[in-house]
Amino acid sequence: MKKVLAVGVSGICLCVLSAGAAWAQPAGKAIVDRACTKCHGIKKVESAKKNAAEWEATLERMIKKGAQVKAEEKEAVLQYLKTLNK
Ligand code: HEC
Repeated sequence: MKKVLAVGVSGICLCVLSAGAAWAQPAGKAIVDRACTKCHGIKKVESAKKNAAEWEATLERMIKKGAQVKAEEKEAVLQYLKTLNK
């Protein structure tokens, strides 16, 4: 019985882990799509040419204006923004 329980629990853990990995990449984009299209279109974001430092400054400026990006979401958002200029 204990063994069955352990197998069941590890199965659930694996599931949560792989779901987490699948989310790691598009999470930033999902937040940008949600939080950065309230005042202007996504084109404004996607067409901007910025290096890492400029994106950080821009993100802070947009948050001051009212962009709904939580502190714990900033890293994912920046990671995604930095991929836009490549
Ligand atoms: C509360 C309204 C608002 C929200 C939400 C918002 N923006 Fe903006 N954004 C503006 C305004 C107003 C401007 C034009 C004035 C300026 O550049 O400060 C602008 C301009 C920009 C520009 C062009 C100017 C530049 O510095 O290159 C970029 C890029 C940008 N926003 C990115 C973002 C990103 C990324 C987000 C999400 C984190 C976001 N914005 C969310 C209001 C907003």
